[in-house]
Amino acid sequence: MSFTVAIDGPAAAGKGTISMAVAACFGFAHLDTGLLYRATGRRVLLGEDPVKAAKTLRPEDLAGEELRTPEVAQAASKVAADPEVRKALIAFQKAFARRLGGAVLDGRDIGTVICPEAEVKLYVTASDEVRAERRFSELNEKGLDVTFESVLADLRARDARDSERAAAPMRPADDALLLDTSELSIDAAVEKAVHAVKQKI
Ligand code: C5P
Repeated sequence: MSFTVAIDGPAAAGKGTISMAVAACFGFAHLDTGLLYRATGRRVLLGEDPVKAAKTLRPEDLAGEELRTPEVAQAASKVAADPEVRKALIAFQKAFARRLGGAVLDGRDIGTVICPEAEVKLYVTASDEVRAERRFSELNEKGLDVTFESVLADLRARDARDSERAAAPMRPADDALLLDTSELSIDAAVEKAVHAVKQKI
Protein backbone atom coordinates (compact mmCIF):
# COMPACT_ATOMS: atom_id res chain seq x y z
CA MET A 1 0.00 0.00 0.00
CA SER A 2 1.28 3.48 -0.70
CA PHE A 3 0.29 6.46 1.42
CA THR A 4 1.66 9.93 0.75
CA VAL A 5 1.94 12.90 3.08
CA ALA A 6 2.71 16.14 1.21
CA ILE A 7 4.14 18.96 3.31
CA ASP A 8 4.73 22.34 1.68
CA GLY A 9 5.51 25.84 2.85
CA PRO A 10 8.19 28.54 2.94
CA ALA A 11 11.70 28.13 4.34
CA ALA A 12 12.16 27.60 8.08
CA ALA A 13 8.45 27.25 8.81
CA GLY A 14 9.03 23.86 10.44
CA LYS A 15 8.39 21.53 7.48
CA GLY A 16 11.56 19.54 8.00
CA THR A 17 11.03 18.89 11.70
CA ILE A 18 7.38 18.02 11.20
CA SER A 19 8.14 15.76 8.23
CA MET A 20 10.80 13.81 10.09
CA ALA A 21 8.56 13.39 13.14
CA VAL A 22 5.58 12.23 11.05
CA ALA A 23 7.78 9.79 9.12
CA ALA A 24 9.21 8.37 12.35
CA CYS A 25 5.77 8.09 13.94
CA PHE A 26 4.26 6.05 11.09
CA GLY A 27 7.42 4.32 9.83
CA PHE A 28 7.24 6.20 6.51
CA ALA A 29 10.22 7.15 4.35
CA HIS A 30 11.01 10.88 4.17
CA LEU A 31 12.29 12.95 1.25
CA ASP A 32 13.35 16.57 1.77
CA THR A 33 12.86 17.68 -1.84
CA GLY A 34 14.66 20.98 -1.16
CA LEU A 35 17.86 18.92 -1.15
CA LEU A 36 17.38 18.11 -4.84
CA TYR A 37 17.31 21.84 -5.68
CA ARG A 38 20.11 22.64 -3.23
CA ALA A 39 22.32 19.92 -4.72
CA THR A 40 21.57 21.22 -8.22
CA GLY A 41 22.22 24.82 -7.12
CA ARG A 42 25.50 23.81 -5.54
CA ARG A 43 26.73 22.15 -8.71
CA VAL A 44 25.73 25.26 -10.68
CA LEU A 45 27.79 27.40 -8.28
CA LEU A 46 30.68 25.06 -9.13
CA GLY A 47 30.22 25.86 -12.81
CA GLU A 48 27.86 23.20 -14.17
CA ASP A 49 24.88 23.61 -16.44
CA PRO A 50 21.65 23.59 -14.33
CA VAL A 51 19.67 21.07 -16.39
CA LYS A 52 22.62 18.72 -16.79
CA ALA A 53 23.30 18.93 -13.04
CA ALA A 54 19.64 18.12 -12.22
CA LYS A 55 19.62 15.18 -14.62
CA THR A 56 22.75 13.63 -13.19
CA LEU A 57 22.25 14.08 -9.43
CA ARG A 58 23.75 11.24 -7.41
CA PRO A 59 22.76 10.11 -3.91
CA GLU A 60 26.04 11.46 -2.54
CA ASP A 61 25.16 14.95 -3.85
CA LEU A 62 22.23 15.05 -1.44
CA ALA A 63 24.23 14.97 1.78
CA GLY A 64 26.63 17.34 3.44
CA GLU A 65 26.62 20.53 5.43
CA GLU A 66 27.72 22.56 2.40
CA LEU A 67 24.13 22.26 1.11
CA ARG A 68 22.91 24.26 4.12
CA THR A 69 24.61 27.59 3.42
CA PRO A 70 22.69 30.77 2.51
CA GLU A 71 24.56 30.92 -0.83
CA VAL A 72 23.40 27.44 -1.79
CA ALA A 73 19.84 28.25 -0.66
CA GLN A 74 19.71 31.25 -3.01
CA ALA A 75 21.28 29.25 -5.86
CA ALA A 76 18.68 26.51 -5.24
CA SER A 77 15.79 28.92 -5.54
CA LYS A 78 17.24 30.34 -8.77
CA VAL A 79 17.62 26.94 -10.47
CA ALA A 80 14.19 25.96 -9.10
CA ALA A 81 12.54 28.60 -11.31
CA ASP A 82 13.78 26.79 -14.44
CA PRO A 83 11.00 24.50 -15.75
CA GLU A 84 13.57 22.15 -17.34
CA VAL A 85 15.32 21.68 -14.00
CA ARG A 86 12.00 20.94 -12.30
CA LYS A 87 11.05 18.49 -15.04
CA ALA A 88 14.30 16.59 -14.59
CA LEU A 89 13.49 16.04 -10.89
CA ILE A 90 9.84 14.99 -11.18
CA ALA A 91 10.14 11.25 -11.88
CA PHE A 92 12.37 10.60 -8.86
CA GLN A 93 9.98 12.45 -6.53
CA LYS A 94 6.86 10.74 -7.88
CA ALA A 95 8.45 7.30 -7.57
CA PHE A 96 9.51 8.10 -4.01
CA ALA A 97 5.96 9.16 -3.15
CA ARG A 98 4.51 5.88 -4.35
CA ARG A 99 6.92 3.59 -2.54
CA LEU A 100 5.32 0.85 -0.52
CA GLY A 101 5.00 1.52 3.17
CA GLY A 102 4.28 5.23 3.01
CA ALA A 103 6.22 8.41 2.26
CA VAL A 104 6.45 11.97 3.50
CA LEU A 105 7.73 14.54 1.00
CA ASP A 106 8.35 18.13 1.96
CA GLY A 107 8.94 21.04 -0.40
CA ARG A 108 7.06 23.80 -2.22
CA ASP A 109 4.98 22.03 -4.86
CA ILE A 110 4.35 18.56 -3.43
CA GLY A 111 0.61 18.94 -2.85
CA THR A 112 0.05 20.93 -6.04
CA VAL A 113 2.31 19.33 -8.68
CA ILE A 114 4.25 16.27 -7.50
CA CYS A 115 1.51 14.50 -5.53
CA PRO A 116 -1.86 16.17 -6.14
CA GLU A 117 -3.40 12.84 -5.10
CA ALA A 118 -1.58 12.71 -1.71
CA GLU A 119 -3.72 11.32 1.10
CA VAL A 120 -2.69 14.14 3.45
CA LYS A 121 -1.57 17.65 2.50
CA LEU A 122 -0.23 20.19 4.94
CA TYR A 123 0.88 23.75 4.28
CA VAL A 124 3.16 24.87 7.07
CA THR A 125 3.78 28.59 7.61
CA ALA A 126 5.06 31.00 10.26
CA SER A 127 5.65 34.74 10.33
CA ASP A 128 8.74 36.07 8.51
CA GLU A 129 10.33 37.15 11.78
CA VAL A 130 9.80 33.82 13.52
CA ARG A 131 11.21 31.93 10.55
CA ALA A 132 14.22 34.24 10.30
CA GLU A 133 14.89 33.87 14.02
CA ARG A 134 14.86 30.08 13.72
CA ARG A 135 17.13 30.03 10.67
CA PHE A 136 19.43 32.64 12.24
CA SER A 137 19.90 30.49 15.38
CA GLU A 138 20.53 27.39 13.26
CA LEU A 139 23.18 29.08 11.11
CA ASN A 140 24.72 30.75 14.16
CA GLU A 141 25.06 27.45 15.97
CA LYS A 142 26.91 26.09 12.97
CA GLY A 143 29.33 28.98 13.30
CA LEU A 144 28.26 30.80 10.12
CA ASP A 145 28.83 34.53 10.17
CA VAL A 146 25.32 35.90 9.52
CA THR A 147 23.13 38.67 10.93
CA PHE A 148 19.41 38.43 11.70
CA GLU A 149 18.75 41.12 9.08
CA SER A 150 20.63 39.27 6.36
CA VAL A 151 18.80 36.03 7.15
CA LEU A 152 15.43 37.82 7.08
CA ALA A 153 16.26 39.52 3.77
CA ASP A 154 17.43 36.19 2.28
CA LEU A 155 14.26 34.39 3.33
CA ARG A 156 12.05 37.13 1.90
CA ALA A 157 13.95 37.16 -1.39
CA ARG A 158 13.67 33.37 -1.65
CA ASP A 159 9.94 33.35 -0.74
CA ALA A 160 9.24 36.03 -3.35
CA ARG A 161 11.12 34.12 -6.04
CA ASP A 162 9.50 30.82 -5.06
CA SER A 163 5.94 32.16 -4.99
CA GLU A 164 6.16 34.43 -8.02
CA ARG A 165 7.77 32.02 -10.49
CA ALA A 166 5.64 30.65 -13.31
CA ALA A 167 6.76 27.01 -12.91
CA ALA A 168 5.16 25.27 -9.92
CA PRO A 169 5.00 28.33 -7.68
CA MET A 170 4.90 27.83 -3.92
CA ARG A 171 1.27 27.86 -2.82
CA PRO A 172 -1.09 25.78 -0.69
CA ALA A 173 -3.10 23.12 -2.51
CA ASP A 174 -6.83 23.85 -2.35
CA ASP A 175 -7.32 20.87 -0.05
CA ALA A 176 -4.27 21.45 2.17
CA LEU A 177 -4.59 21.84 5.90
CA LEU A 178 -2.92 25.12 6.94
CA LEU A 179 -0.62 24.92 9.95
CA ASP A 180 0.81 28.19 11.29
CA THR A 181 3.68 27.35 13.63
CA SER A 182 4.49 30.96 14.69
CA GLU A 183 3.15 30.37 18.16
CA LEU A 184 3.28 26.60 18.38
CA SER A 185 5.92 24.52 20.13
CA ILE A 186 7.55 21.80 18.01
CA ASP A 187 5.60 19.16 19.96
CA ALA A 188 2.28 20.92 19.39
CA ALA A 189 2.92 21.34 15.66
CA VAL A 190 3.96 17.70 15.31
CA GLU A 191 0.89 16.59 17.23
CA LYS A 192 -1.40 18.44 14.82
CA ALA A 193 0.34 16.91 11.81
CA VAL A 194 0.22 13.40 13.30
CA HIS A 195 -3.47 13.87 14.07
CA ALA A 196 -4.16 14.86 10.44
CA VAL A 197 -2.46 11.67 9.23
CA LYS A 198 -4.26 9.45 11.75
CA GLN A 199 -7.60 10.70 10.46
CA LYS A 200 -6.79 9.46 6.94
CA ILE A 201 -4.86 6.29 7.55
O1 C5P B 1 13.33 23.64 1.43
P1 C5P B 1 14.64 24.29 1.09
O2 C5P B 1 14.81 25.62 1.74
O3 C5P B 1 15.80 23.39 1.30
O4 C5P B 1 14.56 24.55 -0.49
C1 C5P B 1 15.55 25.27 -1.20
C2 C5P B 1 14.91 25.87 -2.44
O5 C5P B 1 14.55 24.83 -3.33
C3 C5P B 1 13.63 26.65 -2.21
O6 C5P B 1 13.84 28.00 -1.88
C4 C5P B 1 12.89 26.49 -3.53
O7 C5P B 1 13.30 27.45 -4.46
C5 C5P B 1 13.37 25.15 -4.04
N1 C5P B 1 12.38 24.09 -3.89
C6 C5P B 1 11.37 24.01 -4.84
N2 C5P B 1 10.47 23.00 -4.80
C7 C5P B 1 10.53 22.07 -3.84
C8 C5P B 1 11.53 22.15 -2.83
C9 C5P B 1 12.44 23.20 -2.87
O8 C5P B 1 11.28 24.86 -5.72
N3 C5P B 1 9.65 21.07 -3.84
